[in-house]
Amino acid sequence: MNVKLCVLPGDGIGPEIVFSALDVLYAVGARYNMDFTVTEAPFGGASIDEHGVPLTEGTLALAKTADAVLLGSVGGPKWDALPRTKRPESGLLALRKALGLYMNLRPVKDMKALRHQVALKPEVVAGTDLIFCRELTGGIYFGEKGRDEAGAYDMMRYSRADIERIVRRAFDIAQRRPRKRLTSVDKANVLETSRLWREVVDEAARDYPEVAVDHMYVDNAALQLIINPRHFDVVVTENSFGDILSDESAALSGSLGMMPSASLGGVTDLYEPAHGSAPDIAGQDKANPAATILSVALMLRHTFHNEEAAQMVERAIEHVITVGIRTADLAEIDGPIVGTKSFAQAVIAAFDEVASH
Ligand code: IPM
Ligand code: MG
Repeated sequence: MNVKLCVLPGDGIGPEIVFSALDVLYAVGARYNMDFTVTEAPFGGASIDEHGVPLTEGTLALAKTADAVLLGSVGGPKWDALPRTKRPESGLLALRKALGLYMNLRPVKDMKALRHQVALKPEVVAGTDLIFCRELTGGIYFGEKGRDEAGAYDMMRYSRADIERIVRRAFDIAQRRPRKRLTSVDKANVLETSRLWREVVDEAARDYPEVAVDHMYVDNAALQLIINPRHFDVVVTENSFGDILSDESAALSGSLGMMPSASLGGVTDLYEPAHGSAPDIAGQDKANPAATILSVALMLRHTFHNEEAAQMVERAIEHVITVGIRTADLAEIDGPIVGTKSFAQAVIAAFDEVASH
């Protein structure tokens, strides 16, 4: 199987985490008879420096014709003074929109070896296994925005169809998971878009009788995620709520450096870590590549339908962390610290150990 991969390293730690994750992907390919045609393109701040814009037509064309996109991270202080529409982040939003990626999956899983490092009590996080289905191409991120005499505005707008397509995919995912629970998060006590969201969820629920559905206000969801994370299985929510709650939930797994993401539903699936570009440690071989490697696992699962390979990568990550091979963000007090590249090599070296299990 030949895979056409579009690689967008981006800014800050982006290049080092992406190239480490690619090493892992190539090692998986060697075992599963996949080979790769990789095209790299500048994106975000790197593209602004080279072409004056964060996303060029050329980069977009490459992304559209690839089988999958692997993205690092974008942004940094160098481009902070630019107007909103010229910033690296606007390139990311434009890419998601142009590819039609309306569903962003962000799984959060408690790892035994990291439990005592979590800011919460180990007994609270133990057994957490949830996944966010964040709407990614609508809502306040993409609504009309601007300034007027009085101030500024950002419009939140959702069509019934936009809600229905993500909600149904979230139900599909919930139905395939052992617990079959779907929590829809909204602010239906205040927002009209949320009232419509709730209606659409209740209508769709009729087609999924095995799935247990509950609705939760976003403020309460923010609390419940911290005091009772095991309540959640699949969480479906609109774009900005999903942005905020998914970062919060990264605290449950020990580090934002552990949270991968898959953006699906459009022309080409896109995989990126949920964290940012960490400019303070860029280029120093210090960054944790786990979220990007776990994003590669999601790629194997969702784009290449290779569940066995996906699980091998996920188990290898857990194995490496459990035996104490950790980047600085996860290291124990006075414990050893490995760099980005060595961490990725340790993951590859663990394949034999975990593949047979
Ligand atoms: C994310 C990020 C982006 C978002 C930023 C960089 C635009 O925070 O992927 O969660 O808000 O979607
Ligand atoms: Mg975010």
